[in-house]
This record gives sequence, structure tokens and C-alpha cells, in this order.
Amino acid sequence: MTNALKFSKLHGFSLSEPEQFWAEAAQTIDWVDFPKTIFDPNLGVYGRWFPDGVVNTCYNAVDRHAKTAPERVAIIYDSPVSGSKRSITYRELLTEVEALAFVLLEFGVQKGDRVIIYMPMIPETVFAMMACARIGAIHSVVFGGFAARELATRIDDSRPKVILAGSCGIEPNRLVAYKPMIDEAIEIASHKPENVIVFQRKEHPASLVQGRDHDWTSLIGKAKDSNKSVPCAEISTTDPLYILYTSGTTGKPKGVVRDNGGHLVAMAWTMGAIYGIKPGDVFWSASDVGWVVGHSYIVYAPLIIGATTILYEGKPVGTPDAGAFWRVISEHRVKALFTAPTAFRAIRKEDPEGLELKKYDLTNFTALFLAGERADPDTVRWAEQMLGVPVIDHWWQTETGWAIAGNPLGMGQLPVKHGSPTVAMPGYDVRIVDEAGNPVPTGKMGSIVIKLPLPPSCLPTLWEAEQRFVESYLTTYPGYYSTSDAGYIDEDGYLFIMGRTDDIINVAGHRLSTGAMEEVLSGHSAVAECAVVGIKDALKGEQPCGFAVLKAGVSTPIAQIEKELVERVRQEIGPVAAFKIAIIVNKLPKTRSGKILRGTMKKIADGDAWTLPPTIDDPAVLDEIKLALQAKGLAK
Ligand code: COA
Ligand code: AMP
Repeated sequence: MTNALKFSKLHGFSLSEPEQFWAEAAQTIDWVDFPKTIFDPNLGVYGRWFPDGVVNTCYNAVDRHAKTAPERVAIIYDSPVSGSKRSITYRELLTEVEALAFVLLEFGVQKGDRVIIYMPMIPETVFAMMACARIGAIHSVVFGGFAARELATRIDDSRPKVILAGSCGIEPNRLVAYKPMIDEAIEIASHKPENVIVFQRKEHPASLVQGRDHDWTSLIGKAKDSNKSVPCAEISTTDPLYILYTSGTTGKPKGVVRDNGGHLVAMAWTMGAIYGIKPGDVFWSASDVGWVVGHSYIVYAPLIIGATTILYEGKPVGTPDAGAFWRVISEHRVKALFTAPTAFRAIRKEDPEGLELKKYDLTNFTALFLAGERADPDTVRWAEQMLGVPVIDHWWQTETGWAIAGNPLGMGQLPVKHGSPTVAMPGYDVRIVDEAGNPVPTGKMGSIVIKLPLPPSCLPTLWEAEQRFVESYLTTYPGYYSTSDAGYIDEDGYLFIMGRTDDIINVAGHRLSTGAMEEVLSGHSAVAECAVVGIKDALKGEQPCGFAVLKAGVSTPIAQIEKELVERVRQEIGPVAAFKIAIIVNKLPKTRSGKILRGTMKKIADGDAWTLPPTIDDPAVLDEIKLALQAKGLAK
């Protein structure tokens, strides 16, 4: 039987007998109480997985390996930006996690309380996530590239009891002081967390606010001295493990909830089946713990199966050069790497011939996995030629926590088709539909939907926003989860993901909302109206481009306002928005009913073919947009 036939049978089985499929997968997890019910369709919005099980995620990711393989390395921290490296065994990991769990308990953090983690890519961040999981606190990690206002939104939505923070992040060109942002966020937020525990990095220690802020290292020291052990709390499988905020179509991010049981099962299953990683193997996900890829594949999945995970605080280029990834793979004997295509475009730009690659021994390296944005065939081909290993694109979202479509390398690789993340993974019944929700013929583009129920680990709801969950994902196509991605399925069942159907854009593999950027631009006192679109970028895939119309009578020079708009997005959303282009125009192109023609503006900027929308109010406006883009060197 070919791999394709074998996998297609397994996929069919996962849909016809989902309970049997996932009950079997659940055997790899150590449960306090193995669930008697595998799936209950009557619970939650669309049913719940393993509802009567009892489990602890930290136990599965730390304690059980500390018992069976205490000296195995759990985390390799490799930080070219701080010049440090450190290996942490499972035994050491348990000690650190227990000490921090003890500290959290001392601060009154209880099961179900929220803890915000605003920390860089350092081992303490993993300790923090595991310490929360150990005691049943719900963590919410906030990416360091977000500004104070974004942090404040998350503080108000999740109402954390404690914030765990690093004193700074390190970008190649600057130190990012976290504490001033935390102070500002707490100032802005209505909810005031009682305590902030700060890990002081020597590169930039923070000043602490008396009474509210505490020094991490001395608290951990005291906890270790007390020698008290902190048992793993017994957690209901459907209790949330974490909330991860992701861009929605407005300025208010969506709090994606991940439960304990389904997540554990899916993480463990994917490590073997998709990534081909076994206990003791070295796996590297070159992302950031602030993103879902970091949650799932830097922290949880590798540790749950007892592998070694790489925590890399650096970039693909510039830290110090385009050979950085090859050095890490070679030095730590990495078996598989997972990153965003942008990283490879960045490396290729600096070292198109792969000269850096020739300096390193990559004999242990078996596969490259790409996700987070469309993997353009050109980049995939280049990576294949350079590395000589399978290059696997796979497609997923923060909401799912693992691949909706992929190529199950661990079970037998399927033939690769460039431009496709291959086929739907077990548990995902993926369909392509038209606007009315009717199936479209093979090969035809449409909206990508997933028949309910979603498999384990996918979001059961949004944090304290069940109605928003239903409206955002389940209402447009009743009985289906709407992915907000568009694409098609070919005659072999291969999926092709072509882009979003909403105003989410993907910049360097980072998911951003143009709606949120428009809210920020509109807040400028000179701006009457605005539109932000994602335009093609050779390195980052897309980059945001903002157009603004000024209020009558504004006399400030245009260049000055454009500068202020760029600065404003950086201040309010953060540097990660990568918002560098603001263009003042006299008018925005609109339909006669007043809808801004963002799609047409994007096509003009991208140099794609476009037709004059028949409903356009004033066709001359499009010429002005083109000229304005040309003046910035952006449209041909
Ligand atoms: N804390 C603070 N600032 C951050 C940050 C963090 N954790 N991460 C990024 N930023 C800043 C960057 O310094 C940059 O600031 P600048 O405008 O002052 O230069 C800005 O946010 C935009 O970052 P980015 O879009 O990542 O651009 P970059 O030029 O710094 O790096 C790449 C480009 C391609 C090297 C980088 O994006 C990359 O490695 N991407 C692929 C891997 C990845 O992380 N994917 C995401 C999830 S899979
Ligand atoms: P995030 O929630 O940040 O992981 O972003 C999810 C979005 O990124 C998806 O909805 C897609 O639009 C895009 N995406 C992720 N992986 C891929 C991929 N392999 N191919 C195309 N788009 C992708």
C-alpha cells in the first residue's frame, strides 16, 4: 500500500470513528483519571473532548521525564544576542518549575487564576508556563514586540492576578526595556494586577515599584531553600491551560482558549506522526514563545513527549550572519527545524549560494517544516536544493494549535506538491464552499471550512466571549468552522491556501489586523478617514500600507503627518506591526454605497491585474492612488 493510500484510510477512520482514533492517541498521556467519555457532543459550543478526564499538563511535560530520564536535556537555550548558552535537564527543569510554582502559590495564585507572561526567549519563560500548568493557573503569554496598549488590552481581558516579566528583550539593533511597558500598561488598564515578578537580565535590569514588583531570582532562591515540593494539581481536562490572544478584525484581540486534555493528546500525537520526532530527539522551532508555534512546538509538544527543545534567542540573519541556523542545527544535532518561510527568504537574500551552509555538518538533520504564512514554491525549492532534506509546508492557525493540513512525515511522507501544505490531518474534515456555503467543484477556489466538531486541542471557545466565538467562526457556515482562509482542493485531495478572506495580513509570519491599524490611524487628530492594506513584500510576504485622508483645514506638512502615523502604530500596536508606509491622499476609492475598495488598492500596489469596479463612485481616485504609490516607489 502506498503512503498516500495508508494515510487516506487513517484519515477516513479518524472521521468515521473519531472517538476510537483519539482514545488510542490518548494512551500516550499519563492521566490521573483516564476519560470515560472521549467526546460529548452536548457539552460546550460544539462538544468537548475527554470531558471527564483528570490530568496535569506539567506532569506530562516535566515530572514523568524527570522520573524516567532525569539527565536527558529538556531545553537547550542558545542566545547569540546575549552571548549565552545553557542546557537544562529534565531533573533541573522540574526543580525550577517547582520553585516557581511555589512562588506563585505564595502570591495566592490558585487554580483558574490568570497569569500574564511578558517575557523574552529565555528558559525562565518556559519555567513560567510550566509552573502555571502545574498549579492549574491559566497563562497568557504576550509577545515582546507588542506595545503597552496591546498589553493593557490583554490585562483587562484576562484580569491576571500576577504578571511574570523579563526586564528586557534583546533585538539585534537594540535592547527592548519591558518594565516601562508593563508600568504603562498597568497605568492604562482598568484591572490592576497585584504583583509583578521580574526576572532581571544583566543586559538591562529594571527598577522595581515598591510593594508591587518583586525580584524573581531572590524569590526562587527562597523557594528552593524552603525545599517544599509542589505537587501537580489535579486538573479537569476541559479546564483552560492557556489563553493566547490573536488578531481579530478589530482592535480587540481574540482570546483563544486551549484546554488541558485535548491539547496534551494532540501535541503528543503530532510530534511523532507529523514531525517524526521521538523521545530524546532534538527538535527546533525557530519561532517565539509569544506565538502559537512557540507554545505548541517550542514548549509543549517536544516536552510532552520527552524530546529536547531548542530555545533560540536570535534571528536567521544578522546574529551574526546567514549561517546562524546551520550553526545551531549542527552544534545541537537538530533532527528537524520548524520555522516561517520568511526566515528562509531572509537567509537566501543574504546567502543565495548557500556558502554559509557549506561550513557546517548537518548529518543529523532530516526535515524542514514551514508554516505561519504561504510557503512560496520558489523558496521551498531553494530550501530543498540547499538542504537536501524534505521541506514540508503545513497550514494551521492559533485557533487550532496544530496543523489542519500537513504531510505526516513520521507516518510515511506523501509526495510534495510545491505551493500546497498537502492534505487534511486526522480529525479535520476540510471542505471548500462558496458564499452560500455550497461545496465548490474540485480545483475551484472558495472559503475553507472545517466540519464540526473540531479535533482535540482546537479552541472550544474564546475567553469569556462565547457569543463572539460563535459569531466569528460558526455562524457564517452553520455546522462548520470558518477558517477565514480561501483556497482550493485539487483532484488528489491536496489543499492550496491562497489568502485570508478577512482583513488579517501576514507580515514575516506574524498575524496582524489591518482593522486594528486603521483604528490607530483614525485616532490621529488630523485624519478624517483611512484604509490599511497588506501589500506584497519580497522578504516578509506582506507589509502593511496605510492610506489616510486629512480633515479639512489641516496645515501640518504632509511628510510630518505621515511620520507621525508610522510612529503612532509603533507606539500603540508595537514594532511587530512593521508599519512603515503611510500615504496621505485626497480621497479613498469607494463604491457608490461608501465601501472602501481595499482589494483594488492592494492590486494596484502589487502590480496585479485589476478591473475598474462597476460600482466605483469616482474612478479618478484610483489614478491618484497609483500616483501616490509610485511617488513612494511602490507601484509600477
Ligand atoms: N520584541 C521586541 N521587538 C521585536 C520582537 C520582540 N520579540 N520581535 C520583533 N521585533 C521588532 C523588530 O526588532 C523590528 O523592529 P524594527 O522595526 O525596529 O526593525 C520589528 O519588530 C519588525 O520585526 P520583524 O517583522 O520580525 O522584522 P525583522 O527585520 O526584525 O526580522 C525576519 C525579519 C525575517 C528575520 C524575522 O521576522 C524572522 O525571523 N521571521 C521568521 C520566524 C518567525 O518568527 N515567525 C513567526 C512565527 S512562526
Ligand atoms: P496564526 O494564527 O498566527 O498562526 O496565523 C494563521 C494564518 O496564517 C492562517 O489563517 C493563514 O492565513 C496563515 N497560514 C499559516 N500557515 C500557512 C501555510 N502553510 N500556508 C498558507 N497560509 C498559512
